[in-house]
Amino acid sequence: MILGIETSCDETAAAVVTEDGHVLASVVSSQADLHARYGGVVPEVASRRHLDLVLPVVREALGSAGISLDRVERVAVTQGPGLVGALLVGLSAAKAVAWARRLPLVPVDHLDGHVASLYLEPEPLEPPFLCLLASGGHTLLLAVRGHGRSERLGTTLDDAAGEAFDKGARLLGLGYPGGAELDRMSRGGDPAAFPFPVARVAGFDFSFSGLKTALLYAVRDLGEAETERRRADLAASYQRAIVRALVKKSRDASAETGLERIAVVGGVAANSGLRAALPEVRFAPLELCTDNAAMIASQGRYTESLPYPGYLALDAYASFS
Ligand SMILES: Nc1ncnc2c1ncn2[C@@H]1O[C@H](COP(=O)(O)OP(=O)(O)OP(=O)(O)O)[C@@H](O)[C@H]1O
Ligand SMILES: [Mg+2]
Repeated sequence: MILGIETSCDETAAAVVTEDGHVLASVVSSQADLHARYGGVVPEVASRRHLDLVLPVVREALGSAGISLDRVERVAVTQGPGLVGALLVGLSAAKAVAWARRLPLVPVDHLDGHVASLYLEPEPLEPPFLCLLASGGHTLLLAVRGHGRSERLGTTLDDAAGEAFDKGARLLGLGYPGGAELDRMSRGGDPAAFPFPVARVAGFDFSFSGLKTALLYAVRDLGEAETERRRADLAASYQRAIVRALVKKSRDASAETGLERIAVVGGVAANSGLRAALPEVRFAPLELCTDNAAMIASQGRYTESLPYPGYLALDAYASFS
């Protein structure tokens, strides 16, 4: 049994996963409401809330898996990238649990964790495959050759896809975090109503800042009342531009690498437009798209664990290298 802990951003999460990839429990406590009034995650507020929640969330995961700590054999925890203060709360909690039981600790990279959301039962995907990781902080195209072994083919030059969704949602006066809400709003709109641009970027990189500016200008030109009236059309057109960029680069990368199977992970993998545009593609299960600890425990199965007490000096890292 692996206990997973994730606190890299504004979700406090713990999960129990078996060595063969069955999720026995996955508890996610989102702080979204707490940060909504600021329109974004406030790092210090996030860290403090993680401190309040991390142990109750771990207890709840163990409880709902129906096991006690004696049954846990390893503790997997997100080491980075993310908000460093937030990461340190989860890392310290994981060290404490592992130390108390003399268990090995597995430091997991959050992005490898997102990919490992595909390795869980009941339908685990085996590498190799091409993976689009589209989340709030990252947009990566990865050639995944083995578990935890991937080559970066492309990334975003400016905003991440999830960030583009969130910023677009804010311009349209939708709530925070706006990705899911913009998705919902799009369903009633005409995606061809506004010809928003898809950036032409060389290779497998992405760019979303021009699109965001195009939406800003559209909203400004329409004025408040007309924007309100055409909100669904604006949302649908904006979403289509993001989806088009993601679809095109994923297909191009698949063709160029010969990796025929494509998979999509991260919060944006929940997007209904993207799912509809890539019907043959494997998407992470909906509940494992946004941050969770099941994916961290999942990757913990393939990452080298550190024996007691060597991990006590382990540090978190903020950004991906
Ligand atoms: N249905 C949806 N459509 C579009 N975007 C969505 C949808 N659901 C969630 N998102 C977006 O997913 C992002 C959150 O995803 P996730 O939790 O994987 O990112 P993160 O952990 O903040 O970033 P990272 O993993 O890069 O550190 C947010 O930007 C959110 O708006
Ligand atoms: Mg994430």
